[in-house]
Amino acid sequence: MFQSDLLALKRILITGGGTGLGKGMAERFLELGATVYICGRRQDVLKQAAAELALISHGSISALPCDVRERAAVGDMIENIWREGPLDAVVNNAAGNFLARTEDLSSHAFEAVIGIVLMGTLHVTMACGRRWLAESRPGTVLNISATYAPTGSAYVVPSAIGKAGVEALTRSLAVEWGNRGIRMNAIAPGPIPTQGAFSRVLPRPDLEQAAIERNPLRRFGTVRELANLAAFLISDGSAYINGEVVRMDGGESLQGAGEFSALGRLLKEEDWRALRPNKQPS
Ligand code: HXC
Ligand code: NAP
Repeated sequence: MFQSDLLALKRILITGGGTGLGKGMAERFLELGATVYICGRRQDVLKQAAAELALISHGSISALPCDVRERAAVGDMIENIWREGPLDAVVNNAAGNFLARTEDLSSHAFEAVIGIVLMGTLHVTMACGRRWLAESRPGTVLNISATYAPTGSAYVVPSAIGKAGVEALTRSLAVEWGNRGIRMNAIAPGPIPTQGAFSRVLPRPDLEQAAIERNPLRRFGTVRELANLAAFLISDGSAYINGEVVRMDGGESLQGAGEFSALGRLLKEEDWRALRPNKQPS
Protein backbone atom coordinates (compact mmCIF):
# COMPACT_ATOMS: atom_id res chain seq x y z
CA MET A 1 0.00 0.00 0.00
CA PHE A 2 3.05 2.31 0.12
CA GLN A 3 5.89 3.15 -2.24
CA SER A 4 8.94 1.14 -1.22
CA ASP A 5 10.98 4.29 -0.47
CA LEU A 6 8.33 5.88 1.81
CA LEU A 7 10.73 5.93 4.79
CA ALA A 8 14.08 6.03 2.95
CA LEU A 9 16.50 8.40 4.75
CA LYS A 10 14.39 8.20 7.94
CA ARG A 11 16.20 7.17 11.11
CA ILE A 12 13.73 5.71 13.60
CA LEU A 13 13.99 4.34 17.16
CA ILE A 14 11.37 1.81 18.31
CA THR A 15 11.37 1.08 22.03
CA GLY A 16 10.42 -2.51 22.80
CA GLY A 17 11.24 -3.28 19.17
CA GLY A 18 12.48 -6.82 19.80
CA THR A 19 9.03 -8.43 20.10
CA GLY A 20 5.38 -8.18 19.09
CA LEU A 21 4.10 -4.95 17.62
CA GLY A 22 7.49 -3.23 17.95
CA LYS A 23 9.19 -5.94 15.91
CA GLY A 24 6.36 -5.80 13.35
CA MET A 25 6.81 -2.05 12.97
CA ALA A 26 10.60 -2.50 12.64
CA GLU A 27 10.02 -5.01 9.84
CA ARG A 28 7.63 -2.70 7.99
CA PHE A 29 9.83 0.40 8.40
CA LEU A 30 12.84 -1.55 7.08
CA GLU A 31 10.84 -2.69 4.05
CA LEU A 32 10.08 0.98 3.41
CA GLY A 33 13.79 1.86 3.47
CA ALA A 34 14.30 3.21 7.01
CA THR A 35 17.33 2.96 9.28
CA VAL A 36 15.83 1.36 12.37
CA TYR A 37 17.06 1.13 15.97
CA ILE A 38 15.31 -1.19 18.41
CA CYS A 39 15.78 -1.31 22.18
CA GLY A 40 14.61 -3.45 25.07
CA ARG A 41 15.89 -4.95 28.30
CA ARG A 42 16.65 -8.51 27.14
CA GLN A 43 19.85 -8.69 25.10
CA ASP A 44 19.18 -12.21 23.76
CA VAL A 45 15.71 -11.25 22.49
CA LEU A 46 17.06 -8.12 20.81
CA LYS A 47 19.95 -9.99 19.23
CA GLN A 48 17.65 -12.65 17.80
CA ALA A 49 15.19 -10.02 16.47
CA ALA A 50 18.00 -7.98 14.88
CA ALA A 51 19.36 -11.11 13.17
CA GLU A 52 15.91 -11.87 11.70
CA LEU A 53 15.28 -8.26 10.69
CA ALA A 54 18.70 -7.99 9.04
CA LEU A 55 17.45 -10.48 6.41
CA ILE A 56 15.17 -7.76 5.01
CA SER A 57 17.04 -6.42 2.01
CA HIS A 58 15.97 -2.78 2.49
CA GLY A 59 17.03 -0.44 5.32
CA SER A 60 19.37 -1.20 8.19
CA ILE A 61 18.78 -2.45 11.73
CA SER A 62 20.66 -1.93 15.01
CA ALA A 63 19.75 -3.22 18.46
CA LEU A 64 20.62 -1.43 21.71
CA PRO A 65 19.87 -2.85 25.16
CA CYS A 66 18.23 -0.21 27.33
CA ASP A 67 15.75 -0.07 30.20
CA VAL A 68 13.59 2.95 29.35
CA ARG A 69 12.69 3.39 33.04
CA GLU A 70 16.27 4.59 33.63
CA ARG A 71 16.65 8.19 32.48
CA ALA A 72 20.47 7.99 32.42
CA ALA A 73 20.40 4.77 30.35
CA VAL A 74 18.03 6.41 27.86
CA GLY A 75 20.35 9.43 27.69
CA ASP A 76 23.33 7.17 26.89
CA MET A 77 21.37 5.27 24.23
CA ILE A 78 20.21 8.46 22.50
CA GLU A 79 23.75 9.85 22.70
CA ASN A 80 25.10 6.68 21.02
CA ILE A 81 22.47 6.86 18.27
CA TRP A 82 23.08 10.56 17.64
CA ARG A 83 26.82 9.86 17.22
CA GLU A 84 25.85 7.88 14.10
CA GLY A 85 23.34 10.55 13.05
CA PRO A 86 20.19 12.27 14.38
CA LEU A 87 16.91 10.42 14.67
CA ASP A 88 13.93 11.60 12.61
CA ALA A 89 11.30 9.68 14.56
CA VAL A 90 10.77 7.68 17.70
CA VAL A 91 8.05 5.15 18.48
CA ASN A 92 7.37 4.81 22.20
CA ASN A 93 6.11 1.24 22.12
CA ALA A 94 7.69 -0.40 25.20
CA ALA A 95 5.11 -1.26 27.84
CA GLY A 96 4.35 -3.42 30.84
CA ASN A 97 0.95 -4.74 31.82
CA PHE A 98 -0.86 -7.59 33.54
CA LEU A 99 -4.37 -8.41 34.80
CA ALA A 100 -4.88 -7.94 38.52
CA ARG A 101 -7.40 -6.72 41.02
CA THR A 102 -6.18 -3.29 42.04
CA GLU A 103 -6.42 -4.02 45.76
CA ASP A 104 -3.86 -6.80 45.25
CA LEU A 105 -1.19 -4.49 43.79
CA SER A 106 1.88 -3.37 45.72
CA SER A 107 3.31 0.09 45.13
CA HIS A 108 6.21 -1.65 43.37
CA ALA A 109 3.71 -3.19 40.93
CA PHE A 110 2.31 0.27 40.10
CA GLU A 111 5.83 1.65 39.73
CA ALA A 112 6.92 -1.23 37.49
CA VAL A 113 4.15 -0.58 34.94
CA ILE A 114 3.91 3.22 35.18
CA GLY A 115 7.72 3.37 35.09
CA ILE A 116 7.82 1.67 31.69
CA VAL A 117 4.68 3.12 30.11
CA LEU A 118 4.71 6.73 31.29
CA MET A 119 8.23 7.47 32.56
CA GLY A 120 9.86 5.46 29.75
CA THR A 121 7.88 7.41 27.16
CA LEU A 122 8.75 10.66 28.90
CA HIS A 123 12.50 9.88 29.12
CA VAL A 124 12.77 8.98 25.43
CA THR A 125 10.58 11.88 24.27
CA MET A 126 12.53 14.42 26.33
CA ALA A 127 15.94 13.11 25.26
CA CYS A 128 15.01 13.30 21.55
CA GLY A 129 12.86 16.43 21.81
CA ARG A 130 15.58 18.49 23.51
CA ARG A 131 18.04 17.55 20.76
CA TRP A 132 15.58 18.31 17.95
CA LEU A 133 14.78 21.69 19.51
CA ALA A 134 18.45 22.57 20.11
CA GLU A 135 19.36 21.61 16.53
CA SER A 136 16.23 23.23 14.98
CA ARG A 137 15.54 19.85 13.44
CA PRO A 138 12.07 18.41 12.75
CA GLY A 139 11.06 15.24 14.53
CA THR A 140 8.10 12.92 14.97
CA VAL A 141 6.99 11.02 18.05
CA LEU A 142 4.49 8.20 17.80
CA ASN A 143 3.22 6.79 21.09
CA ILE A 144 1.51 3.41 21.33
CA SER A 145 -1.41 3.81 23.73
CA ALA A 146 -4.45 1.60 24.37
CA THR A 147 -8.18 2.11 23.80
CA TYR A 148 -8.89 2.32 27.52
CA ALA A 149 -6.66 5.36 28.10
CA PRO A 150 -9.53 7.91 27.93
CA THR A 151 -12.08 5.76 29.79
CA GLY A 152 -9.89 3.89 32.26
CA SER A 153 -10.28 0.15 32.68
CA ALA A 154 -10.80 -2.15 35.60
CA TYR A 155 -8.10 -4.79 36.24
CA VAL A 156 -5.31 -3.01 34.32
CA VAL A 157 -5.25 0.17 36.40
CA PRO A 158 -1.47 0.91 36.37
CA SER A 159 -1.49 0.57 32.58
CA ALA A 160 -4.61 2.75 32.25
CA ILE A 161 -2.98 5.45 34.40
CA GLY A 162 0.24 5.27 32.38
CA LYS A 163 -1.45 5.32 28.97
CA ALA A 164 -3.71 8.23 29.99
CA GLY A 165 -0.55 10.15 30.91
CA VAL A 166 1.01 9.23 27.56
CA GLU A 167 -2.03 10.61 25.70
CA ALA A 168 -1.90 13.84 27.76
CA LEU A 169 1.80 14.16 26.90
CA THR A 170 1.02 13.56 23.22
CA ARG A 171 -1.63 16.29 23.04
CA SER A 172 0.29 18.77 25.22
CA LEU A 173 3.57 18.64 23.32
CA ALA A 174 1.79 18.59 19.96
CA VAL A 175 0.84 22.18 20.77
CA GLU A 176 3.96 23.23 22.66
CA TRP A 177 6.49 21.85 20.15
CA GLY A 178 4.43 21.90 16.95
CA ASN A 179 5.60 25.39 15.98
CA ARG A 180 9.18 24.07 16.01
CA GLY A 181 8.56 21.17 13.66
CA ILE A 182 7.91 18.36 16.12
CA ARG A 183 4.79 16.27 15.57
CA MET A 184 3.28 14.12 18.33
CA ASN A 185 0.71 11.43 17.61
CA ALA A 186 -0.46 8.15 19.09
CA ILE A 187 -2.16 4.93 18.07
CA ALA A 188 -4.63 3.25 20.43
CA PRO A 189 -4.88 -0.37 19.26
CA GLY A 190 -7.49 -2.85 20.32
CA PRO A 191 -6.39 -6.46 20.86
CA ILE A 192 -3.72 -7.67 18.44
CA PRO A 193 -2.34 -11.15 19.16
CA THR A 194 1.23 -10.96 20.48
CA GLN A 195 2.81 -13.33 22.95
CA GLY A 196 3.70 -10.49 25.35
CA ALA A 197 0.20 -9.00 25.51
CA PHE A 198 -2.02 -12.04 25.24
CA SER A 199 -0.06 -14.09 27.83
CA ARG A 200 -0.69 -11.25 30.30
CA VAL A 201 -4.11 -9.74 29.48
CA LEU A 202 -6.02 -12.45 27.56
CA PRO A 203 -4.38 -15.54 29.08
CA ARG A 204 -7.26 -18.03 28.50
CA PRO A 205 -9.12 -19.19 25.38
CA ASP A 206 -12.51 -18.17 26.85
CA LEU A 207 -11.25 -14.62 27.47
CA GLU A 208 -9.92 -14.45 23.91
CA GLN A 209 -13.23 -15.71 22.54
CA ALA A 210 -15.18 -13.13 24.55
CA ALA A 211 -12.92 -10.38 23.17
CA ILE A 212 -13.56 -11.52 19.60
CA GLU A 213 -17.32 -11.74 20.16
CA ARG A 214 -17.62 -8.18 21.44
CA ASN A 215 -15.74 -6.80 18.41
CA PRO A 216 -18.01 -5.58 15.59
CA LEU A 217 -15.57 -7.08 13.04
CA ARG A 218 -15.48 -10.40 14.96
CA ARG A 219 -11.70 -10.66 14.74
CA PHE A 220 -8.51 -9.26 16.28
CA GLY A 221 -6.31 -6.69 14.58
CA THR A 222 -3.09 -7.77 12.90
CA VAL A 223 0.48 -6.65 13.46
CA ARG A 224 0.67 -5.67 9.79
CA GLU A 225 -2.38 -3.39 10.06
CA LEU A 226 -0.80 -1.64 13.04
CA ALA A 227 2.58 -1.38 11.29
CA ASN A 228 1.03 0.19 8.18
CA LEU A 229 -0.79 2.82 10.24
CA ALA A 230 2.43 3.56 12.14
CA ALA A 231 4.39 3.89 8.88
CA PHE A 232 1.86 6.42 7.61
CA LEU A 233 1.89 8.43 10.85
CA ILE A 234 5.68 8.79 10.92
CA SER A 235 5.96 9.44 7.18
CA ASP A 236 5.92 12.88 5.58
CA GLY A 237 2.55 11.91 4.05
CA SER A 238 0.91 12.67 7.41
CA ALA A 239 2.72 15.99 7.93
CA TYR A 240 -0.46 17.86 8.95
CA ILE A 241 -1.57 15.27 11.52
CA ASN A 242 -0.47 16.45 14.95
CA GLY A 243 -1.86 15.71 18.42
CA GLU A 244 -4.10 12.86 17.25
CA VAL A 245 -4.75 9.56 18.94
CA VAL A 246 -5.86 7.18 16.19
CA ARG A 247 -7.96 4.33 17.51
CA MET A 248 -7.51 1.04 15.63
CA ASP A 249 -9.84 -1.47 17.23
CA GLY A 250 -12.41 -2.59 14.66
CA GLY A 251 -15.01 -0.43 16.43
CA GLU A 252 -14.74 -2.31 19.72
CA SER A 253 -14.73 0.82 21.90
CA LEU A 254 -17.86 2.20 20.22
CA GLN A 255 -19.56 -1.14 20.66
CA GLY A 256 -18.95 -0.86 24.40
CA ALA A 257 -20.24 2.72 24.56
CA GLY A 258 -23.53 2.32 22.66
CA GLU A 259 -26.50 1.83 25.00
CA PHE A 260 -28.13 -0.82 22.79
CA SER A 261 -25.09 -2.22 20.98
CA ALA A 262 -25.06 -5.50 22.90
CA LEU A 263 -28.53 -6.36 21.52
CA GLY A 264 -26.88 -7.60 18.34
CA ARG A 265 -25.53 -10.50 20.39
CA LEU A 266 -28.53 -10.98 22.70
CA LEU A 267 -31.51 -10.84 20.31
CA LYS A 268 -32.13 -13.50 17.68
CA GLU A 269 -34.03 -13.27 14.39
CA GLU A 270 -37.34 -14.20 16.04
CA ASP A 271 -36.84 -11.53 18.73
CA TRP A 272 -36.41 -8.84 16.08
CA ARG A 273 -39.49 -10.08 14.23
CA ALA A 274 -41.52 -9.94 17.44
CA LEU A 275 -40.42 -6.34 18.01
CA ARG A 276 -41.59 -5.22 14.55
CA PRO A 277 -45.02 -3.64 14.02
CA ASN A 278 -47.23 -5.83 11.84
CA LYS A 279 -46.86 -3.73 8.70
CA GLN A 280 -43.76 -4.44 6.55
CA PRO A 281 -41.24 -1.60 6.01
CA SER A 282 -41.84 0.08 2.65
C1 HXC B 1 0.02 -8.64 40.87
C2 HXC B 1 2.14 -8.42 39.99
C3 HXC B 1 1.79 -9.23 38.87
C4 HXC B 1 0.45 -9.74 38.82
C5 HXC B 1 3.85 -8.60 38.67
N1 HXC B 1 3.42 -8.07 39.81
N2 HXC B 1 2.88 -9.31 38.07
N3 HXC B 1 1.26 -8.12 40.97
N4 HXC B 1 -0.40 -9.42 39.83
N5 HXC B 1 0.03 -10.50 37.81
C6 HXC B 1 4.19 -7.27 40.75
C7 HXC B 1 5.37 -8.05 41.33
O1 HXC B 1 4.96 -8.89 42.40
C8 HXC B 1 6.26 -6.91 41.81
O2 HXC B 1 5.80 -6.37 43.02
C9 HXC B 1 6.02 -5.84 40.75
O3 HXC B 1 4.80 -6.16 40.11
C10 HXC B 1 7.11 -5.81 39.69
O4 HXC B 1 7.26 -7.11 39.18
P1 HXC B 1 8.65 -7.61 38.58
O5 HXC B 1 8.41 -8.95 37.98
O6 HXC B 1 9.72 -7.48 39.62
O7 HXC B 1 8.92 -6.46 37.51
P2 HXC B 1 9.68 -6.47 36.15
O8 HXC B 1 10.63 -7.63 36.05
O9 HXC B 1 10.20 -5.12 35.99
O10 HXC B 1 8.52 -6.75 35.08
C11 HXC B 1 7.55 -5.77 34.74
C12 HXC B 1 6.20 -6.41 34.43
C13 HXC B 1 6.35 -7.59 33.42
C14 HXC B 1 5.30 -5.29 33.90
C15 HXC B 1 5.61 -6.95 35.73
O11 HXC B 1 5.07 -8.13 33.14
C16 HXC B 1 7.03 -7.17 32.14
O12 HXC B 1 8.25 -7.15 32.06
N6 HXC B 1 6.25 -6.81 31.10
C17 HXC B 1 6.79 -6.33 29.82
C18 HXC B 1 5.99 -6.76 28.64
C19 HXC B 1 4.50 -6.57 28.75
O13 HXC B 1 3.94 -6.42 29.84
N7 HXC B 1 3.80 -6.64 27.61
C20 HXC B 1 2.36 -6.51 27.53
C21 HXC B 1 1.95 -5.23 26.96
S1 HXC B 1 0.25 -5.34 26.53
P3 HXC B 1 6.45 -6.76 44.47
O14 HXC B 1 5.80 -5.83 45.43
O15 HXC B 1 6.10 -8.21 44.69
O16 HXC B 1 7.95 -6.56 44.34
C22 HXC B 1 -0.48 -3.85 26.85
C23 HXC B 1 -1.85 -3.54 26.34
C24 HXC B 1 -2.71 -4.71 26.16
O17 HXC B 1 0.11 -3.03 27.43
C25 HXC B 1 -4.11 -4.29 25.77
C26 HXC B 1 -4.80 -5.43 25.06
C27 HXC B 1 -6.13 -5.03 24.50
P1 NAP C 1 5.23 -7.04 23.96
O1 NAP C 1 5.68 -7.95 22.88
O2 NAP C 1 5.26 -7.54 25.37
O3 NAP C 1 6.06 -5.70 23.85
C1 NAP C 1 6.56 -4.97 24.91
C2 NAP C 1 8.01 -4.66 24.61
O4 NAP C 1 8.46 -3.67 25.53
C3 NAP C 1 8.94 -5.86 24.76
O5 NAP C 1 9.78 -5.95 23.64
C4 NAP C 1 9.76 -5.54 26.01
O6 NAP C 1 11.08 -6.07 25.89
C5 NAP C 1 9.76 -4.02 25.97
N1 NAP C 1 9.96 -3.45 27.30
C6 NAP C 1 9.26 -3.67 28.42
N2 NAP C 1 9.77 -3.00 29.44
C7 NAP C 1 10.81 -2.29 28.94
C8 NAP C 1 11.75 -1.40 29.52
N3 NAP C 1 11.70 -1.09 30.83
N4 NAP C 1 12.70 -0.86 28.73
C9 NAP C 1 12.77 -1.17 27.40
N5 NAP C 1 11.89 -2.02 26.81
C10 NAP C 1 10.94 -2.57 27.58
O7 NAP C 1 3.72 -6.57 23.72
P2 NAP C 1 3.04 -5.89 22.44
O8 NAP C 1 1.69 -6.48 22.33
O9 NAP C 1 3.93 -5.94 21.27
O10 NAP C 1 2.86 -4.39 22.94
C11 NAP C 1 3.48 -3.31 22.28
C12 NAP C 1 2.74 -2.03 22.59
O11 NAP C 1 1.40 -2.10 22.12
C13 NAP C 1 2.64 -1.67 24.06
O12 NAP C 1 2.76 -0.28 24.21
C14 NAP C 1 1.25 -2.10 24.42
O13 NAP C 1 0.74 -1.40 25.53
C15 NAP C 1 0.53 -1.72 23.15
N6 NAP C 1 -0.75 -2.41 22.94
C16 NAP C 1 -0.76 -3.72 22.59
C17 NAP C 1 -1.98 -4.33 22.35
C18 NAP C 1 -2.08 -5.76 21.90
O14 NAP C 1 -3.17 -6.31 21.90
N7 NAP C 1 -0.98 -6.40 21.51
C19 NAP C 1 -3.17 -3.60 22.50
C20 NAP C 1 -3.12 -2.28 22.89
C21 NAP C 1 -1.89 -1.68 23.09
P3 NAP C 1 11.94 -6.50 27.20
O15 NAP C 1 11.02 -7.27 28.07
O16 NAP C 1 13.08 -7.28 26.63
O17 NAP C 1 12.38 -5.21 27.80
